[in-house]
Amino acid sequence: MLEKIHTIQKEMEAFVIANADSLEKFKLEFASRKGKVASLFDDLKTVHNDLKRSMGQELNTLKQFAQSKIDEALVSLENETTVSPTAHNIDLSLPVPAGQLGARHPLSMVRERMIEIFSRLGFNLGEGPEIEDDWHNFTALNFPENHPAREMQDTFFVERNPDVALRTHTSSIQIRIMESQQPPIKALAPGRVFRNEAISARAHCVFHQLEGFYIDENVSFLDLKQALYHFVKEMFGQDIQIRFRPSFFPFTEPSAEIDISCLICKGSGCNVCKQSGWVEIGGAGMIDPEVLKNCNIDAEKYSGYAFGMGIERIAMLKYQIKDLRLFTENDVRFLKQFSNLG
Ligand code: PHE
Repeated sequence: MLEKIHTIQKEMEAFVIANADSLEKFKLEFASRKGKVASLFDDLKTVHNDLKRSMGQELNTLKQFAQSKIDEALVSLENETTVSPTAHNIDLSLPVPAGQLGARHPLSMVRERMIEIFSRLGFNLGEGPEIEDDWHNFTALNFPENHPAREMQDTFFVERNPDVALRTHTSSIQIRIMESQQPPIKALAPGRVFRNEAISARAHCVFHQLEGFYIDENVSFLDLKQALYHFVKEMFGQDIQIRFRPSFFPFTEPSAEIDISCLICKGSGCNVCKQSGWVEIGGAGMIDPEVLKNCNIDAEKYSGYAFGMGIERIAMLKYQIKDLRLFTENDVRFLKQFSNLG
């Protein structure tokens, strides 16, 4: 009997309870009603009376051992099912992966680069309101009353008679600066402008321009060309070609449209340049003396040039972006491509 007790004790000690299944097996084999410990209790009946007491004690110890092994297993199995760092091999000291940082918007990057280039030529920054009166957006810029030129720029009116509108170009800022300063003036005015146009890959009702102008004694078209040549070479590289195409604006005379050689097809003709090899980036010209007079600047003494460029257009050429709508859609797949350029 004693021998049996010791054998079963050894068997129990050797039994590894690693999971709920093996715990069940252990219970069945040793601690159940038909298990090995219970069968020893049955055997006790056959033991001689003198030995019953001591055998009974031995058996009770064995029974307690079985129970304590079950209790221990229950505790450790429970710990394993609750989230415990060691049980799941989680290293809480590992560094947290860096959160995603936002990227600079390509339009901000291009605007800043443009400002940087012109600042080095001595241009100072100015600004004006997005909601403008008729005088600053049209009349002072020599747009005659009821003249079709006003229809050239499909205007979003806020109020009529007297007209208040969302500015259709940054040339309105020229007037504001000329009214408040006397030459020499060399100013740069970036801003958002609005035109009632159908939204497509090439046109939008909200876009950005950079206006620049210089008024002093003896400013000529040559100065304008020099400034713009310098700008495009700095912005796009030495190989870029630039040309001036005669054009019309009510506030400049003579007027020109500024084209650069197409960066996408390198001049051989593609969809972006409509097979011409040239892409328009803005308008320019010599400020009409009437405009100077409207701002109380002596047109006999001073002359000046002005230019206005589309910031979206420059960004599209710089980064080969083929759809204007991408700038305003806030698609992170588009925006994050600029995260390491800024
Ligand atoms: N304001 C003109 C436009 O929006 C551009 C321009 C600016 C032309 C300055 C000449 C001089 O189309």
